[in-house]
Amino acid sequence: MTMSGRLELYSRNKLKLGLLGANCSSGRAVTKVPERWNGSWPDCLRLARMADEAGIEFMLPVGRWKGYACDTDYQGETLETVTWAAGLLGATKRLTVFGTVHAPLIHPLIAAKQFVTADHIGEGRFGLNIVCGWNEGEFDMFGATMREHGARYEYAQEWFDTIKLAWSDAEDFAFDGQFIRLRQARAKPKPFGGSRPIVMNAGASLTGPAFAIRNCDALFSMTPKGKLAEFATHVANVHSLARDGGRQIDVYTVGVITCRNTQCEAEEYYQHSVLDNADWAAVDRIMAMRGVTRETFPDDFEEHRYHQANGMGGVSLIPSFQTTAKSPLNDRHCDMV
Ligand SMILES: Cc1cc2nc3c(=O)[nH]c(=O)nc-3n(C[C@H](O)[C@H](O)[C@H](O)COP(=O)(O)O)c2cc1C
Repeated sequence: MTMSGRLELYSRNKLKLGLLGANCSSGRAVTKVPERWNGSWPDCLRLARMADEAGIEFMLPVGRWKGYACDTDYQGETLETVTWAAGLLGATKRLTVFGTVHAPLIHPLIAAKQFVTADHIGEGRFGLNIVCGWNEGEFDMFGATMREHGARYEYAQEWFDTIKLAWSDAEDFAFDGQFIRLRQARAKPKPFGGSRPIVMNAGASLTGPAFAIRNCDALFSMTPKGKLAEFATHVANVHSLARDGGRQIDVYTVGVITCRNTQCEAEEYYQHSVLDNADWAAVDRIMAMRGVTRETFPDDFEEHRYHQANGMGGVSLIPSFQTTAKSPLNDRHCDMV
């Protein structure tokens, strides 16, 4: 199993496609429509097999421990991501499946072994998405205190350094960090086939992307609404900073697709599922947790709400099957910006 195969997600397509958040009830759609995604295991399994057959490159779960309650208990039921990935990897042949893991909540030696186990099940198709700490309420639930922002990433650095030691050829190893101490540690087997899982981080501050650029194969960034050109600059900047550090990194982003047979049906369904039937209480709660309120954003709060309601933000795409069939994007070998 080569590292370049892992990094390419075992596909020659330049534009890689993945599915985000299938392990959660409602997925990423903050909607009340009864047909919304339920996140059950049989549905995840069916989706993964369909994606595997269709040539989708990856599935990325959302690491969530506590839902947002409100009308739909948005993301109230979630499957734990590493065991979820292991199950899906056992049932598929080509897909890369990520685990999304909160570094502060799990000891790195246990985590490293879980990742290796999933990687062996998937014969080199497991990926790791590192979360350094985010929703405070979730941390309270564990009796854990979220460190101040800079220290979160200092901890994550030690956590990831010890994961790498556990994955390395070292027979026995020790680690003497500020937060983590390991003595006469041993971790066998190693990841599948002599390489290691690909690693991603979705930090959005200055510190987060810097962590990704130093350590990861991929940075997951949201495209700011209506600012594609700005995002292209961000991508170029990330590539250039990585190159300066002698590294290479890919940038992933989120697209939110509402697709129906015809353009008119797609637009009607967007109106119905997002604008008319969003779980607005959940939308407002999620935004408030990030400091976005009517008071902090008096001019464009409503716009933020609509954007959030539609799959938690991201680039909104409302195509029809008719238009997609004719789209040049169908050829994923094409060069993408
Ligand atoms: C696309 C995307 C996906 C994310 N997925 C998760 C997740 O599943 N679980 C989680 O707790 N945080 C998730 N995050 C939060 C990030 O890991 C990160 O903590 C957040 O963007 C704040 O960035 P910062 O740590 O640089 O301040 C996600 C962020 C983005 C942009």
